[in-house]
Amino acid sequence: MPTREFVEKLVSNLNKVDSPEIERVLRRLVQQKHFFEIVLANMAEGILVTDPQLTLVYLNPRAHEMLTPHSRRPLEGKSLLSVAKGELFEFLARKEFDPSKTTTGEVILEEPEPAICSISVYPILDDRSRRLVSLLMILRDISDIRREEAQRKQIEKLSSLSALTAGVAHDIRNPLNALHIHVQMLKAMLNNAKGEANKIDVPRLEKSVDVVEEEIKRLDKIIERFLSAVRPTRPVMELASINDLIRQTMETLRPEFEAAMTELKSELDPELPRIPVDIEQLKRAIFNVIKNAGESIDPKLGGSVTVRTWFNDSGVHIEVEDTGSGIARENLGLIFEPYYTTKFGGTGLGLMNVYRIVDEHHGNIHVDSEIGRGTIFTISLPLITKPVKLLEEN
Ligand SMILES: Nc1ncnc2c1ncn2[C@@H]1O[C@H](COP(=O)(O)OP(=O)(O)OP(=O)(O)O)[C@@H](O)[C@H]1O
Ligand SMILES: [Mg+2]
Repeated sequence: MPTREFVEKLVSNLNKVDSPEIERVLRRLVQQKHFFEIVLANMAEGILVTDPQLTLVYLNPRAHEMLTPHSRRPLEGKSLLSVAKGELFEFLARKEFDPSKTTTGEVILEEPEPAICSISVYPILDDRSRRLVSLLMILRDISDIRREEAQRKQIEKLSSLSALTAGVAHDIRNPLNALHIHVQMLKAMLNNAKGEANKIDVPRLEKSVDVVEEEIKRLDKIIERFLSAVRPTRPVMELASINDLIRQTMETLRPEFEAAMTELKSELDPELPRIPVDIEQLKRAIFNVIKNAGESIDPKLGGSVTVRTWFNDSGVHIEVEDTGSGIARENLGLIFEPYYTTKFGGTGLGLMNVYRIVDEHHGNIHVDSEIGRGTIFTISLPLITKPVKLLEEN
């Protein structure tokens, strides 16, 4: 195919070239144009070229269909802003297109039916002057990808829910067995005691009643944890001081720490900005992490838990550091799983809840741990919550 340099040279020497040669090159150029038209017409992506003022210079059939699905009228020469609707209009009108870099975004095109589209805008610069001459835009329908992601998330949710349910059934059975045995014993003692009050073995009776009480508490805890793990919650966001939430949570936990003679300290950044959070949920998450940190410390050996806050461009960070047992590398991947626990009487649902809550806040958790030295849990939360865009599930 004739290259651009070749054609430019031919044009500048046109008077020296004979007409059969010109005709030959022209034929090949027409073939080439035809070839590119077929390629562009068959692309799944919408391709648009505009001048720097967003006047449409070229668009392939797919782009035409995406912009005006109900009309075949040519759009070349029109302003893209007069043709674009809804979010695409907002994206184009809002953006200053930087000639030095590609701008990307996501928009919902409403017609012919709602579709999520990614949009990339590439600046095209003049070879010599490096001035912006055109903008190349590529629109790609990513609704299917998004729908698959949403379905995958749904499936993941269901499978962790069934693991959770199976675990709860298993956990409930143990205390129920204990309750059954102790209630049988109580019945037998009561039968023996009929008419003869002195036959009551008070210490045994007391012990059984204690066990029954303990086991009922345990069941209650399991059910409470289970419900908070599966209950669909929509976080209620309000601007809050994370430092205040931490101080309140630390006060709730202080008696427990004092009883275990574990030191509980804080180093809170007084400049920490307020961020939108679900106060009750976030308190619960912080509570679980601090409680775990305290529980990792052997009261016989002693130790401390330090809660710190700080912030930077990427968000507000809450760090809970303990000098406890640490977590073995091979177990780090398990701690957020439902029912993973190394504690007698633990439900293994604490960190799973923490994960869910932080995820609902669009934040993330980082764990750094060394066996025998201790663990640092860092919860990072964005300064402003990002709106999540998903097509309505059908
Ligand atoms: N700071 C920590 N140091 C050491 N191990 C930890 C720490 N935090 C969590 N773990 C480990 O992760 C496991 C899971 O924690 P999670 O909070 O989910 O459940 P749990 O604390 O065992 O039970 P529950 O929260 O119901 O009391 C713990 O059993 C423990 O082995
Ligand atoms: Mg816990």
